Amino acid sequence: MVKDEKFVLSNGVEIPSIGFGTWQIPNGEIAYKTTLFALKEGYRHIDTAYAYGNEESIGKAIKDSTLKREDIFITSKLPSHIKTYDGALEYFDKTLKALDVTYLDLYLIHAPWPWQEIGKDCTKGNIEAWKAMIKLYNDKKIRAIGVSNFLESDIKPLIEATGFKPMINQIRYFVGNTQRKLTKYCQDNDILVEAYSPLATGELVNKEVFNEMAEKYHVSVAQLCIRYCYQNHTLALPKAVTPQHIKDNLNIDFIISDEDMNYLDSLENVGSRRPFRS
Ligand SMILES: NC(=O)c1ccc[n+]([C@@H]2O[C@H](COP(=O)([O-])OP(=O)(O)OC[C@H]3O[C@@H](n4cnc5c(N)ncnc54)[C@H](OP(=O)(O)O)[C@@H]3O)[C@@H](O)[C@H]2O)c1
Repeated sequence: MVKDEKFVLSNGVEIPSIGFGTWQIPNGEIAYKTTLFALKEGYRHIDTAYAYGNEESIGKAIKDSTLKREDIFITSKLPSHIKTYDGALEYFDKTLKALDVTYLDLYLIHAPWPWQEIGKDCTKGNIEAWKAMIKLYNDKKIRAIGVSNFLESDIKPLIEATGFKPMINQIRYFVGNTQRKLTKYCQDNDILVEAYSPLATGELVNKEVFNEMAEKYHVSVAQLCIRYCYQNHTLALPKAVTPQHIKDNLNIDFIISDEDMNYLDSLENVGSRRPFRS
């Protein structure tokens, strides 16, 4: 089953092929119960971020799940406005404390620029943050490191400055918004693409254009869209709080035909045109 499959990162670390997205799941009872439920249903990969403000409840759910820490893959992210070496170390510590864990499986630079200043050139700051992440990786505090929302032109300076390639780039990716050139660059360079907002933050599930195809495979539009990411070798991170959605999104054991994949690949701008979301 896809839910038990793993992608292998360039350093050999295995990462469960579907992650549970947690953006906009409020800290407290909702994040706690939702994460606990997701783990009970079989998710073994949780995607959070310092900026989501819910690391504490997610950490508590992980503890209370009775699963072993090493059986859960935890991702968090360095806030987008932290662009210094010391700042990166400091915020990594805050994340470890909030989650109440001793190491992370994956840590990402959340964005190449602060969300308030999208597009600003922060190359120098990104290199500083990247050096701190390499230190944490070498100190075995993180099993894999990467970036998010980075373009090829943001990634190359990191590699040039440090010789160290990100293992992952987490980008906004869904049917009709696959950032083809960037995805190809990453996949050609053994940088796994994680597909965030695989349902365009819910916008895709009501698009009539998918109904007929979803019916043909006896799945929901959401399942079709998540499977699409998987067949394009990207790691989807669907978010849900509705129990049935949580269950369905892990159940994508069907095969979209080549012809239907070609059709889905040909769609443009089905979901929102906004290029970035936090
Ligand atoms: N790195 C970044 O900058 C970045 C940015 C955005 C997102 N992300 C990550 O990617 C994750 C997912 O992206 P997202 O939060 O934008 O949303 P998404 O997964 O694209 O869509 C979530 C929305 O779809 C609904 N939904 C989920 N499963 C469904 C189903 N089976 N049937 C019908 N509706 C369904 C959810 O409803 P309910 O919740 O009501 O069930 C919710 O409204 C985030 O949570 C986060 O972990 C990262």
